[in-house]
Amino acid sequence: MPECKTVQIKDSCAMDKKYDKIRNEYRQKPFGKKIAERDPFKQFSDWMDVAIDSGIKEPTAMALATVGKNLQPSNRMVLLKEIRNDNFIFYSNYDSKKGKQIDENHFGSLLFYWAELE
Ligand SMILES: Cc1cc2nc3c(=O)[nH]c(=O)nc-3n(C[C@H](O)[C@H](O)[C@H](O)COP(=O)(O)O)c2cc1C
Repeated sequence: MPECKTVQIKDSCAMDKKYDKIRNEYRQKPFGKKIAERDPFKQFSDWMDVAIDSGIKEPTAMALATVGKNLQPSNRMVLLKEIRNDNFIFYSNYDSKKGKQIDENHFGSLLFYWAELE
């Protein structure tokens, strides 16, 4: 049996649904230590070049997760505009929720998902 974990979503209502029959096999392009770049920024840059060249929609879109002082995580999509001195730069309003949470806690997480590329 696979291990099952749950996350608590604030204000969720009682509703049961199953999506566990939807599955895809990803086998075309294996990735591992042997072929990985030593520099993760170089690796990222290579992947981003492939994503842009492939013509997929919004290759620079990334999920940005932040956690403010109330310790509750938030997530949203933003667009990567630049990488400078190993900083991933996006544009946003300082007064937004993400702006305030980053003020409260500088740690965050970025996730790119290029579904069309395997
Ligand atoms: C594809 C996509 C790209 C987005 N890019 C940005 C962006 O670069 N900057 C931004 O502030 N919001 C962007 N948004 C809107 C955010 O996802 C979000 O709704 C908004 O910034 C408010 O987030 P917050 O209330 O958590 O701060 C984008 C949304 C989508 C779907």
